[in-house]
Order: sequence, then C-alpha cells, then structure tokens
Amino acid sequence: MALRKHRDGELVIEQTRDLARVRAMLTSAAMLTDGIEWPAACYLLAFYGIDAVGVIGVEPQIDAALIRSLYVIDSMRRRGIGAALVAAARKAAHTRGARHLYLFSTEAGDFFMRLGFEVATLADVIAALPGVPQVEYYRARPSELARELAFHLDIVRDGVIER
Ligand SMILES: CC(C)(COP(=O)(O)OP(=O)(O)OC[C@H]1O[C@@H](n2cnc3c(N)ncnc32)[C@H](O)[C@@H]1OP(=O)(O)O)[C@@H](O)C(=O)NCCC(=O)NCCS
Repeated sequence: MALRKHRDGELVIEQTRDLARVRAMLTSAAMLTDGIEWPAACYLLAFYGIDAVGVIGVEPQIDAALIRSLYVIDSMRRRGIGAALVAAARKAAHTRGARHLYLFSTEAGDFFMRLGFEVATLADVIAALPGVPQVEYYRARPSELARELAFHLDIVRDGVIER
C-alpha cells in the first residue's frame, strides 16, 4: 500500500498500526487506553506535516460501531481537524458494515451534536455494541459509566447516491 507523503502545512489522516504512538498520545491527554489493541479496532492518526496532531478509534461490531479516543492536540484545535477525524472514522465504520455510530462523551457533546449526532441512552449503546472494549470497560465500572453521556448517528444512508 502506498502511503501518502506528509507535506508541510498539509493535513493527512491515515489508518495506523502504531498503537504505541496512539497510546502515547492518549496517555499525554489522560484519556483511556484500555482495549486499544483489540484486533477488530481501527485507529486513525491525523498528521500536520510530519507531526501527529490527532487521533480517533473505531470499534465496529456487525452493523454498529463505537467511536472512541478522539483527541486533537491543544495547539491545533479549532481548525477542523476534529471534524475531519470524525468524518474519516465515519467512513471507516461504514466500510466495515456499520449503519449506526455510537459514542460516549462527558465534555464534547456539543461538538458531536454540531456534526449531527443525537443524544442516546447509555443502555442503547450497551445494547448495540456488547463485547466491544470500551463498552465492556464501562460495564465493569458502573460509577464511571454513570458520568458519561451517549450519542448516536444514523449512517444508514452513507454511500447512497441520490438521483
Ligand atoms: C473535541 C475536540 C476533538 C475538537 O477538535 P477540534 O479539532 O478543535 O474540532 P474542529 O476544529 O473540527 O471543530 C468543529 C466544530 O466544532 C466546534 N467545536 C470544537 N470543539 C468544541 C467543543 N468542545 N464544544 C463545542 N463545539 C466545539 C468548532 O468551533 C467547530 O465549529 P465551526 O466549524 O463552526 O467553527 C478537541 O477539542 C479535543 O481533543 N478535546 C479533548 C478530548 C475530547 O474531549 N475528546 C472527545 C472524547 S469523546
């Protein structure tokens, strides 16, 4: 597979197997890293030039997927990188057969609602995605789960060509 060159001043988002780099970025932001090695997961990194500036993970299962671990480094925020990472994750999830995207968030609900996500219940996410690492993480920690909000986006029509 040919990898795109990373050029100065250019944003590139690509799938990565460099989970050590993903872990380091999430750890620096004090974000959860449990379960990132799950074989079915997909992690995407955003590069600005040669620097990794953001990350997102997708945990797919049958016809749904959980978006997790979205992070953009402080100095690069409010330039559209977070939205570009969500768009790339949405495409990755759809390619893997997902018709519904879910996520947990405590702080970034407004950001996701601007991107079309709607509030869901924690039970909706758990019912849609049993067995995926972040769902299992929270199921084992009810007090942490209770602090989260859940969001859903219907992507059934992604890829449909309207005539
Ligand atoms: C949430 C986060 C990923 C957004 O990244 P970003 O690159 O700044 O986002 P974008 O520049 O793509 O923003 C897209 C839109 O959402 C808005 N936005 C960005 N962060 C927002 C927030 N926290 N709340 C509400 N709106 C937000 C932007 O203003 C922008 O709107 P505009 O196009 O009208 O200007 C980033 O703030 C972050 O890493 N936060 C810490 C980790 C986190 O909370 N992750 C989510 C865990 S589920």
